[in-house]
Amino acid sequence: MTDDSKRPPRRHRRPLSVAAAVLLAAGAAIAIPQLAEAATTLQSLAAAKGKTVGFALTSSYLSESAYKNIADTEFNLVVAENAMKWSSTEPSRNSFTYAAGDQVADYAASGGKQLYGHTLVWHQQYPSWVDGISSGTDLLAAMKNHVTNVAQHYAGKVTAWDVVNEAFEDNGSRRQSIFQTRIGNTYIEEAFKAARAADPAAKLCINDYSTDAVNAKSTAIYNLVQDFKARGIPIDCVGFQAHLILGQVPSDLQANLQRFANLGVDVRITELDVRMTTPSDASELATQKSDFQKVFTACANVTRCTGVTVWGLTDKYSWVPDVFSGYGAALIWDENYGKKPAYDGAAAGFGGTTTTPTPTTPGPTTPAPAGACAVSYAVNQWNTGFTATVTVRNTGSSAINGWTLTWSYTAGQTVTQAWSATVTQSGSAVTATNAAWNAALPAGGSTSFGFNGTHGGSNPAPAAYTLNGAACTVA
Ligand code: G3I
Repeated sequence: MTDDSKRPPRRHRRPLSVAAAVLLAAGAAIAIPQLAEAATTLQSLAAAKGKTVGFALTSSYLSESAYKNIADTEFNLVVAENAMKWSSTEPSRNSFTYAAGDQVADYAASGGKQLYGHTLVWHQQYPSWVDGISSGTDLLAAMKNHVTNVAQHYAGKVTAWDVVNEAFEDNGSRRQSIFQTRIGNTYIEEAFKAARAADPAAKLCINDYSTDAVNAKSTAIYNLVQDFKARGIPIDCVGFQAHLILGQVPSDLQANLQRFANLGVDVRITELDVRMTTPSDASELATQKSDFQKVFTACANVTRCTGVTVWGLTDKYSWVPDVFSGYGAALIWDENYGKKPAYDGAAAGFGGTTTTPTPTTPGPTTPAPAGACAVSYAVNQWNTGFTATVTVRNTGSSAINGWTLTWSYTAGQTVTQAWSATVTQSGSAVTATNAAWNAALPAGGSTSFGFNGTHGGSNPAPAAYTLNGAACTVA
């Protein structure tokens, strides 16, 4: 049986409504302020680190302007809190309904946000017809059919899937779910293989709770990843839910993330919340701020950590009080959409309180001699969006004081938000000018700046650059 029937009714439910689309307008010429001048949001801090910050969305809440405003501005990744689970997407066998999931996908696309898929195979929130399948062969066929159809439907839209969710017990043994007991140990790899075949571009993750520390459960997943890698079973990422209790962020969280990253998979904090006894007081909220900072810092410090997702926006709609009586206040915004201290903790963990380097007044621009610069361009991209990091190196023998880098986008890409440089675009021509603090490029010195952008499916790197009018080599 699924657990749905055992749960108390959710509070504060609202009728479903479709999110209003917010399309990024591609102006003919746009001026983008450097980060220090722009309003800092969690997503701008995440993007500056090449990461994403996400939230679990229930589309019906978007009818509340406060909810929608926070969702629109603070996050660059969206995951469906419930709408893409098996009970929503295949309520009757081989009859698929995507309306609720598509609302989440449409919201993500309209705001240029990444879409994260949750979840294809889980022992909760699956439809009751699954319980009626007694043969392992038939259940395997039903599971593969589910994975195949849902992953194909969202192919090109999701960047990653939680393919299998919560497959292990705290002691590291396999959870005796219907999939485990009827299909056997191979059900996890069968699900991953079906997902890869259905959507070869999506990153495929295994996701679980109480795996944030190095412990028996996380080690069981570690061993599974190692085994899958050794046998060529597709797996790309591991999700750490991080449904935490106040003051109990594991001290080895970062080390745990890093040991998985060292296996060659991405890692992500996928469902962060920090619950406390309610009503909350100032001291609890201060501890929660510190807890959020610890989790965001751990992700910031692990290169292969793609980002942090919080399991909801507001305490008004968190799952926590429904399941843990007497506990709540687990999220970043309170029941009235007031920003809690946890916000500053999250921001600080992603570099938000870093002091902006003291501006130095740039002297007159020094022309770069031809060939005295090298430019490298790194890009992280998904369906229609991307984050780019550009590194400019002065390869000449004299200092450059004040720089302007230009390039051309040949596939209609549009820069939407930049940091550590002022970036303007006119048609295909893009111009990046130094921020005050990184104007000086000593001989042999380099600096990096970054930006987010949108693309129409093709996103080639620029072929050539000029620095202060002189051509650079492309590194
Ligand atoms: O949709 C029905 C509605 O028709 C009915 O009137 C109402 C009455 O109870 O229930 C509604 O379904 C609820 C559903 O959320 C959608 O709101 C279920 O009862 C409720 O059990 C379900 O809870 C979800 C829970 O997963 C299910 O186990 C939570 O919203 C969701 O936040 C939670 O998320 C999970 C992750 O997927 C996996 N990791 C743990 C995390 C927290 O439990």
